[in-house]
Amino acid sequence: AYAFDAYGTLFDVHSAIARHRPALGPEAEAFSALWRAKQLEYSWTRTLMGRYADFWTLTQEALDFALARYPAIPRDLRQPLLEAYAQLSAFADVAPTLKRLAAAERRLCIFTNGTKAMAKSAAVSAGIVPAFETIVSVDEIRKFKTDPAAYALLHQALGLALGEVALVSSNRWDIAGAAAFGMPASHN
Ligand code: LAC
Repeated sequence: AYAFDAYGTLFDVHSAIARHRPALGPEAEAFSALWRAKQLEYSWTRTLMGRYADFWTLTQEALDFALARYPAIPRDLRQPLLEAYAQLSAFADVAPTLKRLAAAERRLCIFTNGTKAMAKSAAVSAGIVPAFETIVSVDEIRKFKTDPAAYALLHQALGLALGEVALVSSNRWDIAGAAAFGMPASHN
């Protein structure tokens, strides 16, 4: 089976700001990068502290941090940006790749820090839901990647042994977590 990371791998996290580019001004890219960086930082620190809050909550907290750091970004974009984040675009190579793997009769799933609702919403708007047999969300164990429990959950959910599931992720730290767990992992 192939497990696809969601945010940054299937879905372009920066497509949220792309939809509101004119209203965001010249700091849009830096703002979006900070939003993403804080979202991830919160996932790691919360897991280390044992203070889980779901990824949608972290996404909002990270957005609030970025809005505070960039006062020139209009605050009334908060809700539209969150709505755009719930409907991110998939990268152009996603659909053809999934099609090729399905033709090769591979089992495909989404494996994400995001809640099932978040990942489902993005997958629906990207039109790629039918490609996947399931969405495995760490929300079930209330710990984020790279906690080994996240990669254990993936194997348990698919009923597969170590070595039978490969992770596909654009996030190097996610690949490192999977490799440390003993999984075949590739950086795309
Ligand atoms: C995910 C984040 C980490 O989808 O990109 O798990």
